[in-house]
Amino acid sequence: MKVSTPILFINFKTYEQATGQKAVLLAKAAEEASKEVGVSVALVVQAVDLRLVANSVSLPVFAQHIDPVNYGSNTGHILPEAIKEAGAVGTVLSHAENKQDNEFIEAAIVRAREQDFAVMVCAEDLERAKQIAGMQNKPDFIAVEPPELIGGDVSVSTARPEFITDSVSAIKEISPEIDVITGAGVKSKADARKAVELGTVGLFVASGIIKAADSKQAIIGLLNGLKK
Ligand code: G3P
Repeated sequence: MKVSTPILFINFKTYEQATGQKAVLLAKAAEEASKEVGVSVALVVQAVDLRLVANSVSLPVFAQHIDPVNYGSNTGHILPEAIKEAGAVGTVLSHAENKQDNEFIEAAIVRAREQDFAVMVCAEDLERAKQIAGMQNKPDFIAVEPPELIGGDVSVSTARPEFITDSVSAIKEISPEIDVITGAGVKSKADARKAVELGTVGLFVASGIIKAADSKQAIIGLLNGLKK
């Protein structure tokens, strides 16, 4: 599954405002915003809410994580086939809040591709971004996110612009086909515009949308910043 860029990935994490029926309301607001502005949005939701959200909107829905397991004895793991059947078209791997080693990531990418999933792998630093870009089975997207800025008030595009530009050049040098996304503290249209100017094709955002007084307006602002 290919998703079109520029794109805003909204990470529902485990926020109360983005769980269960509230996840559906947020998904619908995102769908309206995407239609109004004409820029792609993908929803990154909890595994347990995937089916509900995927049945409620036409936006692409991603899992926050999968495990590289097969049908069988794997209690507590997230089976790629089950996620697909629930309506997911892609998955995030190794988010900073659920970090995995490279061996896990490589195995999970293989399993994700068997389901024809789009794949976004997160990198907490430049070294990891290079390692992911050099993997034999490549993700579609690498999301570069400095962990110390996640959930904060200062955007990565303001606090660490060189981290974004260095990541984009390093990733593109190793694997030009991988698209780079950034996130952490991103809230405004200006943050979004700057991220694009620094070479990314999109954003990975949570608190700036989910904790906003008006989530739909927050999404619209970010999408306008991404718009070419
Ligand atoms: O996955 C995106 C995320 O880690 C960034 O979170 O709250 O800083 O937008 P936030």
